[in-house]
Amino acid sequence: MDKHKIKEAARILSFAHFPIALTGAGISEESGIPAFRGEGGLWAKYNPAEYAHINAFLENPKKVWQMLKELDGILRAAKPNPAHKVLALMEAEGLLKGIVTQNVDNLHQAAGSKRVVEFHGNAFCLRCLSCGRAYKKEDMSSEQPLIDLIQDVPRCHCGGLLKPDVVFFGENIPTRALLEAQVLTAACDVMLIIGTSGEVAPANYLPYDAKQHGAKIIEINLEATILTEAVTDIFLQGKASKVLIALEEEIRGMRGKKS
Ligand code: APR
Repeated sequence: MDKHKIKEAARILSFAHFPIALTGAGISEESGIPAFRGEGGLWAKYNPAEYAHINAFLENPKKVWQMLKELDGILRAAKPNPAHKVLALMEAEGLLKGIVTQNVDNLHQAAGSKRVVEFHGNAFCLRCLSCGRAYKKEDMSSEQPLIDLIQDVPRCHCGGLLKPDVVFFGENIPTRALLEAQVLTAACDVMLIIGTSGEVAPANYLPYDAKQHGAKIIEINLEATILTEAVTDIFLQGKASKVLIALEEEIRGMRGKKS
């Protein structure tokens, strides 16, 4: 890890007025949740056209629900890792004003982050495709959806098909999440981009929007991405938890000197 770059990034963050973070699957990989792309990624095992597109879900909900149930076990077992915890600490110390996450694993909230925009929804909530009713998985005990024993898929009490409240390919970003993400991006003077390949729109427009109005872009990733060349001012190569711990320590040291 490049110590000079850590120092430079810490200096920028400690003087920032409205720093935000944009996170992707890479920040949760150290919590045991596989990322989507690259070696061992989810999309290497499940073709997203067959398992993560809304049309595939409507054509064969049973098949997609089989994959979703397998993922459910991984998501339920996952706990926040130090990267999530450092971001929550930075927010508590006023060093971060919000997080826009592409992840649906609820780990930022579990780590204590308060202002989290779930750009792709939340896997712990089910929504009825007919009446729009939402079922939060954690309080399913009180209000169990019906299980369609023939299709072996969960159904709403209205009889409609239930799907996880996450954005499938072919679906729009929820309006509220889109607007909140745009407000945070427009307000930020630093965007900390952590663990995303930057491959998926419209989430990957946000770094360009931030750059366009003069925000500093700090990117943390195991490897360079399409964003690195295009918008990144400081690229911190390494595991999210390791880099964020070093960054937070450096900022703390700078604050100690200032006070
Ligand atoms: N620390 C930092 N970066 C990491 C780590 C780690 N421990 N592990 C993996 N990465 C990086 C990878 O190098 C990669 O650049 O995280 C990135 C993960 O990229 P993707 O798997 O493409 O995940 P993401 O960018 O979040 O995907 C965006 O695509 O399929 C859709 O809806 C899905 O939200 C997802 C969206």
